[in-house]
Amino acid sequence: MKFILGNGELLRNRLETFPERYKNGFSSSQILVICVTNDNEVVGACGISKISNYALAYLKEKYRGRGLGTKLEGKTYSEARKHGLDFVAGAIHLWNLPARRVASKVGYREVVQLRDFGYVLLMIPFTFKGELLYAFLHALCSKLPRTFLHAIVLVSMSVVESIRQSLSVILSGS
Ligand SMILES: CC(C)(COP(=O)(O)OP(=O)(O)OC[C@H]1O[C@@H](n2cnc3c(N)ncnc32)[C@H](O)[C@@H]1OP(=O)(O)O)[C@@H](O)C(=O)NCCC(=O)NCCS
Repeated sequence: MKFILGNGELLRNRLETFPERYKNGFSSSQILVICVTNDNEVVGACGISKISNYALAYLKEKYRGRGLGTKLEGKTYSEARKHGLDFVAGAIHLWNLPARRVASKVGYREVVQLRDFGYVLLMIPFTFKGELLYAFLHALCSKLPRTFLHAIVLVSMSVVESIRQSLSVILSGS
């Protein structure tokens, strides 16, 4: 098994066998690491999006549960650190225990649990700026009333969804 480093644009054509949701998610990655077998099959990827530094990871089902996800995410975040990113952020379903376990193994810290949405938001700060941002968000989320927090998340989700839809229209036309 080997890991190849690139970005969403460079490696887009290596993700053909991935589910649509992940193909789209990875296509905007500023840093993307793919995991390739000796037969040249791409079996997984971990990417970090531009601007929000949002991280996404995916492994084909038969390759899960043997430590590969942890290695893949670990490699991606150490590249992110080398590239000078201040932090990476993630959102994981509360019921997704393998993903939450990997997150804790690679150093994610919880920002807030949004129980009504079934998500936990997480971050790994790499720099002092990242640490400050984490401390600020963590404190803010613990102080804000839940209803206000949920309203912010709903608005952000619809903004992100509109951007995602516009991007797929632009990309499918190019
Ligand atoms: C998340 C994902 C990348 C993890 O990859 P993986 O190769 O299975 O992960 P690893 O084998 O390195 O680690 C899995 C850990 O979860 C644990 N685990 C697995 N199932 C579990 C369960 N039901 N309850 C608790 N822990 C569980 C494993 O024991 C292991 O922990 P350990 O090393 O302490 O024993 C993979 O499951 C995946 O692609 N899932 C679908 C996409 C996804 O959910 N992405 C995450 C959101 S971005």
